[in-house]
Amino acid sequence: AGPCDIYASGGTPCIAAHSTTRALFNSFNGSLYQVKRGSDSATLNIGPLSAGGVANAAAQDSFCAHTTCVITTIFDQSGHNNHLTQAPAGGWKGPEANGSDNLASATGAPVTLNGSKAYGVFIPPGTGYRNNAATGTAKGDAAQGMYAVFDGTHYNGGCCFDYGNAETSGGDTGAGHMEAIYFGNINVWGTGSGSGPWIMADLENGLFSGVNVKQNTGDPTITDRFVTAVVKGQPNNWAIRGGNAASGALTTFYNGQRPNASGYNPMSKEGAIILGIGGDNSNGAQGTFYEGVMTSGFPSDATENAVQANIVAAKYATTSMTSGPALSVGSHVSLRATTACCTNRFISHQGSTVNTQVVSSSNTTTVKQQASWVVRTGLANSACFSFESVDTAGSFLRQSSFQLMLNANDNSKGFHEDATFCPQAGLNGQGNSVRSWNYPTRFFRHFGNVLYIASNGGVHDFDATALFNDDVSFVVSSGFA
Ligand code: AHR
Repeated sequence: AGPCDIYASGGTPCIAAHSTTRALFNSFNGSLYQVKRGSDSATLNIGPLSAGGVANAAAQDSFCAHTTCVITTIFDQSGHNNHLTQAPAGGWKGPEANGSDNLASATGAPVTLNGSKAYGVFIPPGTGYRNNAATGTAKGDAAQGMYAVFDGTHYNGGCCFDYGNAETSGGDTGAGHMEAIYFGNINVWGTGSGSGPWIMADLENGLFSGVNVKQNTGDPTITDRFVTAVVKGQPNNWAIRGGNAASGALTTFYNGQRPNASGYNPMSKEGAIILGIGGDNSNGAQGTFYEGVMTSGFPSDATENAVQANIVAAKYATTSMTSGPALSVGSHVSLRATTACCTNRFISHQGSTVNTQVVSSSNTTTVKQQASWVVRTGLANSACFSFESVDTAGSFLRQSSFQLMLNANDNSKGFHEDATFCPQAGLNGQGNSVRSWNYPTRFFRHFGNVLYIASNGGVHDFDATALFNDDVSFVVSSGFA
């Protein structure tokens, strides 16, 4: 049985079931999600390998070969047509030209389930999905259950990495108008114990860990790579539960009355569905979603425990984040552009500016060192890499507002994330394309001889689609110095 078969037998059926990694009903053999590729804007629906099975990642890989792909739709498997698509502008505008949010890369969150490759939804700040016309979702004070499987190591303190029930208007309509799972370490509203991240409930105008609006020390900091997060609510009763999605059982972190603040009892749920954003389209948060559902009715703990056993049996595990010519940690490398204009130019720095320079063996040591980088284990993710300057020890290539810079490592979580890159086979067939770990639609790109992390189409001039594959493909050789 799948998670939704278990919820159905518990009398609390799924009214929304979203996953890019697997079918959530035993008999589900339809489309899990849709990808759109950069080369020709064609789309492809990805289904499971067999009914009830893991997503057909190989179909995505061949469709997206030598180009980029984004996830356009996460289909609802429940039959309620509660599909998730690009979130439109709400109370807050997203980064797209019309104020909508960005779509997620289709390749930012590779995993395996029982050894079979699949992709999660890696959500950087600015990215989100929404359905403002969902049907069958809880409204008012009606009961609902939810669970989601997240990457417990991908979070931040921005508002708000949510999955669940939100406003149908896209705006903040007041306390009690949402009931969604939140994951992250924002401390503007409630918190759990330690420094986070925590599973909390976004009930609008507040993230809550328990009855006390400020803190529930029973809501622990999460350290698991894969985390199962549960939030459920019914009249004057709600609960937070969580556990390791790869082993063991769920623990109840809170189960009791609504928070001690006005507006939450009774609730005023509106029934839209959000992923990766706040109810008002706040889009400063990051996180990774693999699967999740919303139910009609308040699921029993026993039902959720059986769902957790099903998730554990799906065997989520990490897998390679890179492809193409291998880089080895500790080696010195130089990266040569492959666009026809520029095949004698290498990624270099002058002070903190990162650009391309014409370099050859006859240049001075200074110039050679400016074009040489020490390959380091990824500062934010050991499956990827960081690039330390040969002439300025302790300074790394990092993105800042999507421009590549050379800056000293301040050892902050944010710096580490901005300085982590996952090379893959070059999009134009040469060398490597170097994908940003925290913005995986974006790759090292030279544009006007300056280095950016660029997406294949977007609002910045450096996101231009013309020459994209060439501009993001670099031949990596041993370093000049
Ligand atoms: O409740 C926390 C956040 O506050 C909501 O997600 C958002 O709508 C509001 O800004």
